[in-house]
Amino acid sequence: MGQLVMKQIAVVGLGLMGCSIIVSFLRAGYDVVGVAPIPDEAATGKLRIREQLHLCQEMGLLHQDIEYYESRLLISDDYADLKYSQLVVECVIEVFDIKKHVYNRIEEVVEKTAIIATNTSAIPISQLQKFLQHPERFMGIHWAEPAFATRFLEITCGESTDLALAEGISQEAEKWEKEPTLLYKDIRGFITNRLMYAVYRQGFELINEEYVSMSGLDKCFQYDIGSWITLMGIFRRMDYIGLDHYRKSYAHIFPKLSNSPSVPQQMKHIAAIQGRGIHNLKGLYPHTDESAKKLEHRLVSFNKEIYSLAERYRNKLKNINL
Ligand SMILES: NC(=O)c1ccc[n+]([C@@H]2O[C@H](COP(=O)([O-])OP(=O)(O)OC[C@H]3O[C@@H](n4cnc5c(N)ncnc54)[C@H](O)[C@@H]3O)[C@@H](O)[C@H]2O)c1
Repeated sequence: MGQLVMKQIAVVGLGLMGCSIIVSFLRAGYDVVGVAPIPDEAATGKLRIREQLHLCQEMGLLHQDIEYYESRLLISDDYADLKYSQLVVECVIEVFDIKKHVYNRIEEVVEKTAIIATNTSAIPISQLQKFLQHPERFMGIHWAEPAFATRFLEITCGESTDLALAEGISQEAEKWEKEPTLLYKDIRGFITNRLMYAVYRQGFELINEEYVSMSGLDKCFQYDIGSWITLMGIFRRMDYIGLDHYRKSYAHIFPKLSNSPSVPQQMKHIAAIQGRGIHNLKGLYPHTDESAKKLEHRLVSFNKEIYSLAERYRNKLKNINL
């Protein structure tokens, strides 16, 4: 298949991620349609997108003024406005029936050649794909928040996805300034979530068997892995360290790692109190309104710096073919 021709891209769902994905597409130079599937969301979505465009401006990520990007954005509550979009990204809550309804509404209006994608983190693509009349044009496109300032993108084929279309999206995603990873087969949790769940399981075991405190464990992760991970990933890091040591350690350590299928006790407790971390001040750590706000602000300024740091080193590594 030749390269995809994309001029207009749409997002359905103007929540946290829907808005920041819209900003990412605006930055990349497309006409963008944002469909608000619930009442009053169009107005709040517009405001959130404006705030995020201002943030992009502060970060030096825009090539035009904010009015220019806003002039290329249509926010609507009418699915009919999706008609001319070559790609529609669904970004609504993780409820099967709601996603199914949204796909029906999208397929009623878009051209047969339009690609339809979901940003789901948890539902297998092959299951959602069954809701579509043309499942071959459906795939996962999974972003990290804030979508306009992160390079992460997982593109996942379900059982019936046309691989050529997924490859086309993977190529197109370079224009979105992403470093896309293509998953040829669908797997629950995709790549990063799967890796992280293995880490959570091991982490909870170390804490619950009283080897370390939660903050002690967090510090190890933060200052060891955090000191190199954006530069090289885990397998390139192994080459850098020297492989012999890993071969011996794997043989000793793999049989001793946690293999528990149970939900850790802390997470059962959090579920019982309906904890949502800094969003309702019930989490794994104690939070106050003030500490929650501080953490949010720090993350925004950290994102700005890590984005430009990663960009500088990405260019240097490209020069030596890494
Ligand atoms: N938050 C993240 O960091 C993150 C990361 C990766 C993927 N995702 C995925 O993105 C999707 C959206 O997540 P979010 O964080 O933006 O959630 P959110 O709660 O901020 O937004 C959810 C959106 O769903 C839509 N919605 C709610 N009720 C609806 C209804 N009855 N009918 C139709 N639409 C309805 C609305 O547009 C709402 O804004 C989910 O599939 C989620 O798994 C989120």
